[in-house]
Amino acid sequence: MSLRWKIFSLYLIILIVSLVSTGFYLYNYIEKSYLDNVKVNNLMQANMISNFVSRFVGASSYLIEPTIIEYAKQINSRVLFTDTNGKVLVDSAASKEMEGKIIKSYSDIREALKGKGSTSIHDINGVGWAMYAAVPVTVKNNVVGAILISSSIDEVMSLLNSIKYRMIYTFAGIGLIVSILSLLVASFITKPLKRLTDAVNILSQGKLDYKVDVRSNDEIGKLAGAFNKMSLNLMKLDEERKRFVSDASHELKTPLASVKALVGSLIDSRNTDVHFYKEILRDVDSELDRMTRLVNDLLELARMDKIKSVRLKKCEISEIILDVIESLTPLAKTKEINLAFQGKSNVFAEVEADRFYRMVYNIVENGIKYTYNGGNVIVGLKEDENNIYITIADNGMGISEETLPKIFDRFTRGDTARSKKSGGFGLGLAIAKEIIDIHEGKVTVESKVGEGTVFKISIPKKRRN
Ligand SMILES: Nc1ncnc2c1ncn2[C@@H]1O[C@H](COP(=O)(O)OP(=O)(O)OP(=O)(O)O)[C@@H](O)[C@H]1O
Ligand SMILES: [Mg+2]
Repeated sequence: MSLRWKIFSLYLIILIVSLVSTGFYLYNYIEKSYLDNVKVNNLMQANMISNFVSRFVGASSYLIEPTIIEYAKQINSRVLFTDTNGKVLVDSAASKEMEGKIIKSYSDIREALKGKGSTSIHDINGVGWAMYAAVPVTVKNNVVGAILISSSIDEVMSLLNSIKYRMIYTFAGIGLIVSILSLLVASFITKPLKRLTDAVNILSQGKLDYKVDVRSNDEIGKLAGAFNKMSLNLMKLDEERKRFVSDASHELKTPLASVKALVGSLIDSRNTDVHFYKEILRDVDSELDRMTRLVNDLLELARMDKIKSVRLKKCEISEIILDVIESLTPLAKTKEINLAFQGKSNVFAEVEADRFYRMVYNIVENGIKYTYNGGNVIVGLKEDENNIYITIADNGMGISEETLPKIFDRFTRGDTARSKKSGGFGLGLAIAKEIIDIHEGKVTVESKVGEGTVFKISIPKKRRN
């Protein structure tokens, strides 16, 4: 069953239960109050007749019959007077048909002869609705007979009947209107859900940037908002992935083409000079090195994408930095760059040593690569209670304002001429950023073209969780 019908049936059940029970309660209440009123009235009149009759029992018993007949006329009812055996002594009706009959079978008479007032309602064939009210006739605390009044309650019954039908029609009307409304409400509630389902289907067919147009401010609206955000992110991820694959293939294509050309020239050459061959093979070798480096970088990035848990170990950070500096000093020397460490020693943090080394290496290497001959690359290290802070500052070429925000993206290189010359792939900082991320650290860059660049990295000493 669809959600719409579920909501609708739930509404309907609640509605029917509440309407029927209110209807029953109301009707019973009205009926009881009307009939109680009539009952009290009839019992009162029966008592009044019984009082008179009891006074006449004995000496003036000849007065009983005319009094009863007179009274019956006044209250527009039939009045019977019985003796203690239930035998009718007086019948106020002109036919007197009940006189002499024993009516002890009437429950009200039996009750009255036991000394209690009693009433009952009867649907008399051909006559209509009547209420019987019977009371005892007592003389000196002895029951000497009973008075039974039978009065028509047709009017009351037909009034109650009309009330009943009116209530049924009104409630049925209300029920109909509310069910139509609830059907509308159910459709209204479920419509955006249907749109969302359609959207998910469209998305799963590959249209990653599909958006749903649900603007409400409720839970469904929020769900739609989350969906739209998700589809936007999926699209971005997809674009990133596509760009990554195309950049990576492009990067591989260049050295492959060089190798192909170099090998081709060897095959075609008639030159038999060994030096010539060696020269070309050296070029092939360096292209192969470049490809290996690229493939290794790509593998490293792919591995870090999958990382869920890092194997952290408490390490002395300045030692790692000094290792980096040691291995990059030859490169710095070729450019007469002053590469130095100016920071605290004995600073410990939980890191994955190999990757941490790689991160510092990539950034310091950039510092050297993108600084003019004779410049400075200074690495600093500080700590506080929770974090360590590394700064890598150079006074080199700097990074242009438009490149700066993209610096950590894969395959981002600054000025192409410059990067071609220095031979980078634009992956060094992407890898460094991933490494900082898996350590739950932060990195910022400040740079000015022609003045230099500062990378500031903070890494928590311990995992927070
Ligand atoms: N210290 C720096 N000074 C000036 N420019 C920098 C500096 N560090 C990075 N850049 C710029 O940022 C770009 C991206 O750096 P990244 O390390 O990711 O790639 P790369 O050095 O070009 O290549 P790779 O590191 O993969 O060999 C560089 O091409 C360079 O233009
Ligand atoms: Mg680099």
